[in-house]
Amino acid sequence: MEQIRTLTPRTAVIWSVLRAELDRRAGERLSVLDVGGGTGGFAVPLAEAGHRVTVVDASPDALAALTRRAAEAGVADRVRATQGDADALTGLVEPATVDLVLCHSVLEVVDDPEPVMSALITALRPDGAASVLVAGRAAAVFGRAMNGQLEAATALAADPHGTTGGRDTLRRRYDAADASALLTAAGLVVEEIHGVRVLADLLPAAVADGQQAALVELERALAARSPYRDLAAQLHLFARRPA
Ligand SMILES: C[S@@+](CC[C@H](N)C(=O)[O-])C[C@H]1O[C@@H](n2cnc3c(N)ncnc32)[C@H](O)[C@@H]1O
Repeated sequence: MEQIRTLTPRTAVIWSVLRAELDRRAGERLSVLDVGGGTGGFAVPLAEAGHRVTVVDASPDALAALTRRAAEAGVADRVRATQGDADALTGLVEPATVDLVLCHSVLEVVDDPEPVMSALITALRPDGAASVLVAGRAAAVFGRAMNGQLEAATALAADPHGTTGGRDTLRRRYDAADASALLTAAGLVVEEIHGVRVLADLLPAAVADGQQAALVELERALAARSPYRDLAAQLHLFARRPA
């Protein structure tokens, strides 16, 4: 696990949770599915740690970058890049074959998150785990308001999907309760919820860049605690398919 060293304020909390799961399964070579895994920011370190990772992503460009990155890291044989849609996973991945599913920053952009969640649980083996990262609604409300966009903040707070409408780059944002309900409805048992980037996006760049190690520690210290967790830019849910 030494090779997983991508500890930035944006990823440290997620890696802490994933590392605990990898430690729990120590000695096993896990089958990992990274849905919307993009250029492999998580897939490549997991492959470096010895696991077999399939990345399903809609973007050929992202998959080309992933393939290059995996080759440069010397793990091309453990990373499979598959072009496809998150809600059509069933045709791409054998049911009940995956130990760990990652679905990071994807549910906000797909047409409908429910079939994606349903496909994820179908792919998981019993006792397999899901790592789901979604955009947080409260941070977006605060962000708009602090930029002087009070109408947008009001719209975002009131909208059932947590968007400001047509021009918003995301189709939906979540509170911890909404996100948890989505996973639970799919049949997963939510074990942990953490806030990711509680402070990272709010600090001046000089502070965030100049004191990165201290910021990583602070993000870790606040991630599971209310009210800090609920104000984070992203919410990370770790859930499990019942055995
Ligand atoms: C914001 S990026 C996140 C990348 C990566 N998961 C991460 O956290 O760094 C969203 C990724 O989801 C992919 N994506 C968007 N819609 C998708 C869909 N319907 N099916 C599969 N991938 C999709 C995009 O191509 C992009 O690579």
